[in-house]
Amino acid sequence: MEENNPPSLSAKFKHSFAYPTVKERMPSIVARVADTAFRSKSWIKEKYGEDGSHDLKSLAGCVSKLRNEMMTGKVLVPIHDGRSDVQLWNDYLKEVTERDGEEPAWFISPWLYVECYMYRRIQEGVEKCHVLHKFDVFMEQKQKALLDSAQAILILLNYLMTVVNDLDSGETTNTHKLFKQLMQISLWGNKCDLSISGGQDNAQTSCPLDQVNKLREFVLRDDLEQVWQHLSCKAPCRVDIVLDNAGFELVTDLCLAEFLMSAKLASSVHLHAKAFPWFVSDVTKDDLDYTFQHFMQNNSMAMDMFVKRWKERLEDGSWTFEVHEFWTSPFPYCDMKKYMPDLYTELGNSSLIIFKGDLNYRKLVGDRNWPTTTPFEESLCGFHPAPLCALRTLKADLVTGLEEGQAEKVKKQDKHWMINGNWAVAVYCEKIVQ
Ligand code: F6P
Ligand code: MG
Repeated sequence: MEENNPPSLSAKFKHSFAYPTVKERMPSIVARVADTAFRSKSWIKEKYGEDGSHDLKSLAGCVSKLRNEMMTGKVLVPIHDGRSDVQLWNDYLKEVTERDGEEPAWFISPWLYVECYMYRRIQEGVEKCHVLHKFDVFMEQKQKALLDSAQAILILLNYLMTVVNDLDSGETTNTHKLFKQLMQISLWGNKCDLSISGGQDNAQTSCPLDQVNKLREFVLRDDLEQVWQHLSCKAPCRVDIVLDNAGFELVTDLCLAEFLMSAKLASSVHLHAKAFPWFVSDVTKDDLDYTFQHFMQNNSMAMDMFVKRWKERLEDGSWTFEVHEFWTSPFPYCDMKKYMPDLYTELGNSSLIIFKGDLNYRKLVGDRNWPTTTPFEESLCGFHPAPLCALRTLKADLVTGLEEGQAEKVKKQDKHWMINGNWAVAVYCEKIVQ
């Protein structure tokens, strides 16, 4: 492969391994939104009266138009609503059209772009509402997933309470081991996303502590020792976590953030979330609030302790919860410097950025058809605001940083290893040699 000439986007649908699954999954996600709108009729009418009913009709109309455009392979059309990112989306549509010499269309154009566009179009339907403009069409599924994981969450929080109490009283000698364990729990928390299951239930039902031990052999690349070496040298420092899913995964990420603070590895943690509902289960501010509310309603000492602590951390600024338009844009991360230089510069103040999940990973490596042995550093295509680490279970047919022969070996063991979420990578890049 020529230098400065990365491979094609993974993602001309027709070449993609995941194509049949994805082509079915995307319209079914849109259909579920229509179903949610239909089932919400009575409570919305009760709460918002005729204005609510009118909004629901308009939303259902937008979603059905969207589904029709998808199913009939129409071209992607500009977005028309009042969100501040409209210009960005529409300029990009023009740019892609000029670049490719044709208008992007459903299931022909690069998967990453088309998939992001689908979620932005769903949001367009919501933005056009008068009283329901803050409606989260995936809220019901996300909340159910959180409640269905209640047992696993309780086990995890009780465990963290012991860890934190020991750290607070100076009784801990195994910070190194605990760091790796909490990172692994956060990594496997990523198994629980609702977009891989087309919005079907996907909760954590087994004990997360047993799970990390059993799953160790499914981590195809494990750079956690290097992450530890780096972090323990810098500590206490600023750590950023680019969040992925609400529900169990968010709790594992908050537990990791708590551990980093309590162990004095981090002096601050910046949590990055989505500005609007995205890829079904991605975290928004409302999801964080709902999680806290859920903690407060339970009669659990650990939940009580952590909800108080975490609210305090957010109030005193040692934790921040930030949303930026970039995370709900269609851009691969190597384009961040060009389109959102402010965010790139801001992230440069971090000592470690942890990217969670499959979509963040796809965007990190530009969703390209890299040979699996391509060095991870190379596949970042120059994106490196600060030392960074990706914790990702594999749900899309691309991965880099593997050893020679490793992909072939795993494929023999598990035909769907790249897309079933059963395999993972914890990959780290300290610096890029230009
Ligand atoms: O729909 C495809 C996809 O991008 C997959 O790659 C993955 O199943 C999902 O959406 C998002 O996964 P995650 O929540 O881990 O980013
Ligand atoms: Mg997600």
